[in-house]
Amino acid sequence: MSTAPPVRRLGVIVGSLRQASFNRRLALALQRLAPPSLQWQPIAVGDLPLINQDHESALPAPVQAFKQALAACDGLLLVTPEYNRSIPAPLKNAIDWASRPKGQNSLGGKPCAICGTSPGQLGSAAAQQHLRNVLSVLNAPTMSQPELFLHFTPELIAEDGSVANDATRQVLERYIAAVAAWVERWAA
Ligand SMILES: Cc1cc2nc3c(=O)[nH]c(=O)nc-3n(C[C@H](O)[C@H](O)[C@H](O)COP(=O)(O)O)c2cc1C
Repeated sequence: MSTAPPVRRLGVIVGSLRQASFNRRLALALQRLAPPSLQWQPIAVGDLPLINQDHESALPAPVQAFKQALAACDGLLLVTPEYNRSIPAPLKNAIDWASRPKGQNSLGGKPCAICGTSPGQLGSAAAQQHLRNVLSVLNAPTMSQPELFLHFTPELIAEDGSVANDATRQVLERYIAAVAAWVERWAA
């Protein structure tokens, strides 16, 4: 008799604050295709103040809430746009807060996965690579493969996150199944 895999909480951060964000659409598509063992926990980063060490001794309330949300999840999915071949500022700001104060790094040991999309041909590849470097310094074990660089076109993912193209749907399905396995491997 096979038993169902345990449910794991996946925190999901979208690095774009734009309401009609393509990366938010990608996150929605992945949520629709995720195995039932993943409990989706969106974590917003738009209300975090800009990182300022003067406020490290008494963390602002949004930062405290953010760090609590990170602590409550078993793994983290970062869905990132690319800004000028690098990590968008809202996402970098969130990661910088997560890493502080010194000795209270919320990402240490947290299994992470990175993906992203862009209307550009490289599908956010440069931003993802920079993000990988940052997570590595924070000791966050980050899934290497499969990678997901999606060249976004308007017909690829509908606003409700549905994916009409079979090949794209399969790629996304395989990716999110691998994320579930990655989180499970570190939780076990
Ligand atoms: C400041 C800025 C810089 C950008 N630089 C890049 C870039 O380096 N590479 C790229 O593919 N797209 C770049 N773009 C275009 C974004 O990929 C595009 O706006 C995308 O829709 C942003 O993601 P979102 O839809 O999730 O907000 C840039 C956009 C902005 C606003």
